[in-house]
Amino acid sequence: MRILLVHGPNLSQAGSRDPAVYGTATLDDLVAAAREEHPDVEPFTSESEGELVTRMHAARTDGTGALVVNPGALTHYSYALRDALEMLTVPKVEVHLSQTAAREPFRRHSVISPVVDATITGLGVLGVRLAVHAAVCLARERA
Ligand code: DQA
Repeated sequence: MRILLVHGPNLSQAGSRDPAVYGTATLDDLVAAAREEHPDVEPFTSESEGELVTRMHAARTDGTGALVVNPGALTHYSYALRDALEMLTVPKVEVHLSQTAAREPFRRHSVISPVVDATITGLGVLGVRLAVHAAVCLARERA
């Protein structure tokens, strides 16, 4: 079962971006951790909202089994990504490296959470592993 692991704007800089908040794992480390959890992980990373929306459309018909997504700051305001995710019917898990609920007020609201199955925050690279594990379990449950 193929898990699509999506990272949005600025996650490409993980590891060097405010390590006290986001940890020291690089994007490659996050993908490697996801693959340790489940070997069939396809990473997709983009700084662009439009590319992310287009990839979500493709995921509707390309055999994606489940989705793990860290939308970065788009989490807090992208109705376009929200709507694209709503159309995608496979299990979906939202993940954030930082504990968004404990940060600035604008980070405490996700427009994505209402259209995914679960949200994991504040666990860094462990959260990515748990999100992949949960996505695989949900997809198996629904098969
Ligand atoms: C983030 C949290 C967002 O608020 C922020 O804009 C990010 C990263 C996280 O993983 O903690 O880019 O999604």
